[in-house]
Amino acid sequence: MQNLCAKADAYIAANQNTVDKRYRLAYHAMPPVGWINDPNGFCVWNGEFHLFYQHYPYDTVWGPMHWGHWKSEDLIHWTDLPVAMAPDSECDRRGCFSGSALPLQDKLILMYTGVHVGENGLIQEQCIAQSEDGMRFTKWDCNPVIGEEALPDDICSGDFRDPKVFTTPEGYGCIVAAKGKESGKILAFISTDLKEWVYCGTVIEKIGMMAECPDYFRLDGKDFLLSCVIGPNADMQKIPGKKPSIYFIGEMDEHTYAFTAQQMGALDYGPSFYAPQTVLDQTGRRILIAWMRNWVCDSRMPTDYLGHGWAGAMTIPRVLTLEDGRLRQRPVEEMVRLRRNKVEYQDREVVGRIVLPGLEGSHKEIDVTLEVSSGASVTIYLFEDQEEHLSVHYDRDAQVMTLDRGACGHSLGEGDASRTATMPVMAEDGKIRLQIYVDTCSVELFVNDGKAVMSALAFPKGNGQGTSFHAKGKVFISALDKWDLIPYQNSSLSRPTQRAGACLL
Ligand code: FRU
Repeated sequence: MQNLCAKADAYIAANQNTVDKRYRLAYHAMPPVGWINDPNGFCVWNGEFHLFYQHYPYDTVWGPMHWGHWKSEDLIHWTDLPVAMAPDSECDRRGCFSGSALPLQDKLILMYTGVHVGENGLIQEQCIAQSEDGMRFTKWDCNPVIGEEALPDDICSGDFRDPKVFTTPEGYGCIVAAKGKESGKILAFISTDLKEWVYCGTVIEKIGMMAECPDYFRLDGKDFLLSCVIGPNADMQKIPGKKPSIYFIGEMDEHTYAFTAQQMGALDYGPSFYAPQTVLDQTGRRILIAWMRNWVCDSRMPTDYLGHGWAGAMTIPRVLTLEDGRLRQRPVEEMVRLRRNKVEYQDREVVGRIVLPGLEGSHKEIDVTLEVSSGASVTIYLFEDQEEHLSVHYDRDAQVMTLDRGACGHSLGEGDASRTATMPVMAEDGKIRLQIYVDTCSVELFVNDGKAVMSALAFPKGNGQGTSFHAKGKVFISALDKWDLIPYQNSSLSRPTQRAGACLL
C-alpha cells in the first residue's frame, strides 16, 4: 500500500536542494524539482490565489501526471504546497491531466481528466476531487463524473480532456476539449450537483484537429473562449505559431453554449507559451497565466539535457481587458513591487550600435519607447556578450517585429519554429513602446501597452547580461526606464511524508 502523493512529497523534499541553480528564474513560478507543464485550477479561495500545475516530480521529461500546487497572496511570491493529486485511483492510473477549480464557500473543488487504459486503448474521463483545507484533496468515489458513455457518438474517448468548470444560474457548467471524427471540438455539459452531468452541445468545432485546454469567461461585456489548437485549420493558420493559443471574442448562447466568434487572435506570438488559464480576482481583474514553453517550438529543454533536475515555468501573470474592441494584456501591477535601481534615458538617437550604461542584468524590466522613421529599423540585443545574443528586430515599413533566439546559447529545438517568431506591430505616431521582462532564461515582450505579447525562453551559455540597440535609418529612444527586478525565492511549507485519507493504493 503506498500513498503516491506522500511518495512524491518525500521525493521532492529529498531532491529539491539538488537542482542546478544556473537557470533558475528569479520572479517566475517554477517547480521545486522535476517537470511541469500546464497551469491547472487557477483560482482564488479564502482570499488567496491557488495555482496547480501538471507535474512529474521524478524526472525532467513528461511522465504520469500529478498536480503540483502553489498558493500566493500577490501573484508574485508563490509558496510550494504538497502535491495535490497523484495518479493513484482506477480512473486516473495513467495520469491526472489538466483541469480547473471551483472555489465553493466551504470547499475547493478540482475537476480534472483521469486517464486510464480501457479495452481499446487510453480513455480520458472527467473526475472530481475536493478539499476542505485547500491542501489535502480527496477524489470522489463516484468518479468519473463524466464518463465515456456521456459522449456523443462521433467523439473519441481517448481524446476528451481539460474540463473548465463554472457556476451557472441553474447549477454548474463545464466545457471540455474533445476530438471528433472530422475535427477537434469543445463540448458543453451541465449539472445541478456536480455528480450527474448532461451533454448539452458543441461550443465550437472545425478549428483544428484538437482544441486543448479551453477556458471560458465574460469580460467587459463580451464572451471569451481560449483554446490551444493542434493542427489548426486553414482559417486558424493565419495566426502565426505552430501550436497557437488562440482567443475568440464573441457570444456564447446561454442555453446551448454554442459560441459565435466575432474576432480571434493569438494570445502570444512567441515560441514559449501554451495552455493559458484565467481567474477573476477579488478586485474584478481577469488574470491569465500560461506555461512558458510550447511542445512544438521548445521541443528540447536545456535544463533537462544538461541534467539540471528541473524543467518548466509559468509566465508572468497578465491582466486582460477589452479596450476599443481589442484585447489588451498587461503584466499584473504587483510586478512593480520587484523594481529596484531605476535607470533613465531620454531623447537619445540610436546611431549604428549603442550601449547605454546601466542596462545590464539578468533579472530586469526595460520600458522603452522608440521612434522609428519610415524606412528605418531597429534591433535590440538581449543576453548579449561576445559570443551570443537574442535579438528583437522591428521593421517600421513591414510593421513586423521578429524575435530570433537562434544565436542565444543552448538549443531548444530544431528548425525555424524554434528559432524565430514574428508578430504584427503598428507604430503609433511613428512610435512603438516595448516593455521587456528578462529573467535568467526568459524574455516576455509587451508591445504598445499590451496590444501584442511575445514570450520566449532562451538559455545563454555565457553570463548573458548585455543589452544594446542597433539602428538602420533614423531611430530615437524617446524614453527608457530600466529597473532590476529583485529575485525572490519560492517559500515552501514542509511536506508531509505520511498522509491519511483516501486514494490509498
Ligand atoms: C496540454 C496537455 C493537455 C493535457 C496535459 C497533459 O499541454 O496536452 O491537453 O491535459 O497537457 O499533461
